[in-house]
This record gives sequence, C-alpha cells and structure tokens, in this order.
Amino acid sequence: MATFTLPKNSKIRDKGEVHTAPDGGRIKKFKIYRYNPDSGENPHYDRFELDLDACGPMVLDALFKIKNEIDPTLTFRRSCREGICGSCAMNINGSNALACTTAIEDLGGEIRITPLPHMEVVKDLVPDFTHFYAQYASIRPWLQTVTPTPSGKERLQSPEERENLDGLYECILCACCSTACPSYWWNSDKFLGPAILLQAYRWLADSRDEMTGERLDQLEDPYRLYRCHTIMNCANVCPKGLSPAKAIAETKKMIAERAI
Ligand code: SF4
Ligand code: SF4
Ligand code: FES
Repeated sequence: MATFTLPKNSKIRDKGEVHTAPDGGRIKKFKIYRYNPDSGENPHYDRFELDLDACGPMVLDALFKIKNEIDPTLTFRRSCREGICGSCAMNINGSNALACTTAIEDLGGEIRITPLPHMEVVKDLVPDFTHFYAQYASIRPWLQTVTPTPSGKERLQSPEERENLDGLYECILCACCSTACPSYWWNSDKFLGPAILLQAYRWLADSRDEMTGERLDQLEDPYRLYRCHTIMNCANVCPKGLSPAKAIAETKKMIAERAI
C-alpha cells in the first residue's frame, strides 16, 4: 500500500563533495546521488567535473572514470556495456535509462544521476531488486507443458508463431518501465507492473505453452493486472523500444475473450 511521506532518512541533502576538474578541456558537470547505509547519514549529492576529451562517450564511461580516478567508493551496477544485461538502469536527468547506451553529448547542462525511482536503495545508484525478482518468479517465467514432447524432440513453432514473440523476448528486465509507472509507485506491493506483465504476456503469446488458462487465472485480479491505467510512461522509457502497455492490453483482451 502506498505511503505518502518519505522516511526521514531518505530526504536528500543537496550539499556533498565537489570535485572540480583542472581548467581547460571540455568540462561537463555531473551531480550524483550518494547513499551509504553504513554511515547512518541521509543521502546527498556529490558533484564531479570531467573533461569529456579524456572520457568515453557514454554516461557509464563517466561513472567508470569517476570510480577509477576520483572516488572508488562510487557504487553502481553494470556488466555488458552494450544494452544487453539491463543492470546499469538508472535515472538520468529525470528519465530512466541505461547508462551504457545514453550518450553524454545528448544531455544538456549538469547531468543529474539518481537510482531508479521508488525502490529501496542498497547503496548509491544500486536499487534493491528483491521484490521485483520475486514478482518475476511469481509469473512462472518458463515454458509450462502437460503433453509429452512430440517424438521426444523439440516443440516446434511456425515462423508466424515465432513472430508473435517479437517485441516481447527482447526485454532485458532492466525495470526502467516499472519504476517509471505511477501505478507501480503507489501499488508495487500488489500490482505486478509493466516489466513483469510484459514477461507474463510473453508466455501467454507462446504457442508452445500449455498453461494459458492458469496463467490468466493468476493475472485476473484487481491489483495484479488491472492497476494499469494506460499512462504509457512504460513504453516511453523502454530502452529496447518495447511496449509493456500493449502487452498489458493484449492480456486484458485475452481475459475478456475467454469470458464470452
Ligand atoms: S501503461 Fe500501465 S503499466 Fe505502463 S506506465 Fe502506464 S499504468 Fe504503468
Ligand atoms: S519492457 Fe523495456 S523497460 Fe521494461 S524491463 Fe523490459 S527492457 Fe526494461
Ligand atoms: S551495462 Fe548492461 S545494459 Fe548497461
């Protein structure tokens, strides 16, 4: 259930450390959210100036430069550096995005970086995904069948059946969409949110899955599915160009059609 006041220890102090760059070069300013649960202190912003001529082109390159050369305690997740793993999702200048595919040059002014919104913070830019992953597990995100595999071999799909998974299988579970969804902010304890609902539809749309009825039963709930009010933030921020809102609409349609 939503709470409308922030815990005292979540209020951000604006004053933190300022790391200036030597004069000259193409200087860009970064304002970065810092939180260390071991310090007992509220979060704050630190400011860093970087010379873009000595830095890679992406926001993730800037974070690496800061960590490697200025402050090794800066904490963030990353793995692939090419928009595949989803682990570098964060809020950059007010919009959720992947740090590794967001070009510094495309961002005007001082660049403000905070963790994905409305999630508990583990440290600095690292949000706690425990609840998000538990919600993912709850939809049983794997192929479920009751009939034996034909001739003990693979379950085949026609090219058309395989195409039904386009726009779904590409999801990297970065959570940019769920943490941009106002309905998820207020009801994430019960609403599954756009990322998990897109994943749920990915299995509903799979011609090989034989648990469609059970999957729809699990989703047919005033909160789990129907808290989506088609605000569309999810589709606007998805770094893979997917539309969870469309997947949610298709799921609602399947539930409506089976009731006829
Ligand atoms: S369309 Fe639905 S899931 Fe997407 S942001 Fe809006 S309310 Fe959330
Ligand atoms: S739908 Fe897009 S924004 Fe949402 S988790 Fe998947 S890849 Fe990320
Ligand atoms: S580091 Fe993998 S998506 Fe950014």
